[in-house]
Amino acid sequence: MAKRKRASGKKLGHDPFKDMDLDWMEEEEPAVEMAAEKAEASAITSEPAPTAVPVTAVASPPRPEATFHFPADFKWGVATAAHQVEGDNINNDWWAWEQEEGHIKDGGQSKRACNWWENAEADFDRAAKLGLNAMRLSVEWSRIEPRPGEFDDAALARYSEMLQGLRARAIEPMVTLHHFTNPLWLVDEGGWENPETVDRFTRYARRVVEALGQHCDLWCTINEPNVYGFLGYVDGTWPPGQPDQKTAMLVIRHMLLAHAAAYWEIHDVQPDARIGLAHNMRILDPADPGSRLDRRAAKVADRVFNQAILTALTKGRWTLPLGFGLAWKLRGTLDWIGLNYYTRDLVAFDRTQKESLYTRRLHARDAELLDGDYGEFYPHGIFRCLKRLDRLGLPIYVTENGIPDDDGDQRPRYLLTHLHEMWHAVQLCYPVMGYYHWTLVDNFEWAEGWSLRFGLYSLSLKNKSRKPRQSAQLYADLIHANAITPQIIDAYAPQLRAELLPG
Ligand code: BGC
Repeated sequence: MAKRKRASGKKLGHDPFKDMDLDWMEEEEPAVEMAAEKAEASAITSEPAPTAVPVTAVASPPRPEATFHFPADFKWGVATAAHQVEGDNINNDWWAWEQEEGHIKDGGQSKRACNWWENAEADFDRAAKLGLNAMRLSVEWSRIEPRPGEFDDAALARYSEMLQGLRARAIEPMVTLHHFTNPLWLVDEGGWENPETVDRFTRYARRVVEALGQHCDLWCTINEPNVYGFLGYVDGTWPPGQPDQKTAMLVIRHMLLAHAAAYWEIHDVQPDARIGLAHNMRILDPADPGSRLDRRAAKVADRVFNQAILTALTKGRWTLPLGFGLAWKLRGTLDWIGLNYYTRDLVAFDRTQKESLYTRRLHARDAELLDGDYGEFYPHGIFRCLKRLDRLGLPIYVTENGIPDDDGDQRPRYLLTHLHEMWHAVQLCYPVMGYYHWTLVDNFEWAEGWSLRFGLYSLSLKNKSRKPRQSAQLYADLIHANAITPQIIDAYAPQLRAELLPG
């Protein structure tokens, strides 16, 4: 019999098995002896010995069958955003941006999107059928306040109808007030570069909560200030498309101040409201952990993208690159924190990249990549982010997590491995309250247009029909079991058995 081998490719500091004779570990216990031992053991515990088990049946040991349960009140949802699904949001900056050539991949446009303004309810039915008990959706500022200070009661009534539709299906809504889009009039007045936008946002937030608070008490003020700032003002691939790092930081600061002001305003209208913000976190690891420069580069990138916003919100302090000094207005303005996690990058020091603070992003050589160069398949990242957020002492929602995967060959594994990592976090008592998968139906993916498909359901652009991908049923089964079970693993991703159920 062959000697025990180390898992190939894994570097251990030393080989603890070297020169040891481990053959005995491979030898199967003789079936007869095992049966005799079992009978003896059960006699000790005064249980009757199993009677009808033929001795030969004992020969192959049972496969491990652990089940990973989630708390009984765990929230299982999907997440969406107004502009990505509603259609015909003609009065916002993204619509205008889409009309100009070269801005959206393959010339894509949101157009009627997933037709939610007409009939979100058809997808609510799908969500209910999957067994979801939660949904994160956003309201569109440009519909609700089409002109400064003028609120559209019909638009608010439509949102109220949607929220009631969710409640009627026993789905708890989480409403985001700002998910990347701005009314054109706001942009004309300087958008988020203008400090007055803080007050405008607060006025809008108040009106929304007054109108919809009867059906919702879980609010997400702003989605991903870091992504908004970086793509619009550093990268320049999103509106307003004016790369300027200083402005990017100003814009993020204004967004955080607007979050804080809205926090108090919403609590004034609805004292029991639960208010948070969705923060995009990306794992940024050094390309070469042995290199001091790479380690520093990764740390800088992490501070800039992940940490500065968290420090501002929880400690009430601006740190670089957001600035210096006190941000005391931000303190105590989170009832919960939202994690949007998708992927990781490696970061290398690069002296030619002054614009990106001498950092360059790359992928691990052996990494499995996601479609459309979206990043690495890196499930452990969600655990690492949750561990970091646990230190804030706030309830945590995973407000987004998902994968672009049109042919569905990665999504089942993505879902199972990420949920398994999240389960681990729950077992360590990190206060993870719920998970919102991004997303239910393929939607308009901003500058990527319709080229990235994140849906549990695929969408036909021609006739807007939906077809469930295999992961829709997978998610339904997980929710129904409120657990990851061996049966689910075997049915949807048997190749994960050894990883998730070692033994
Ligand atoms: C955004 C979503 C987007 C998703 C997938 C998130 O960062 O909040 O609007 O669709 O990523 O790209």
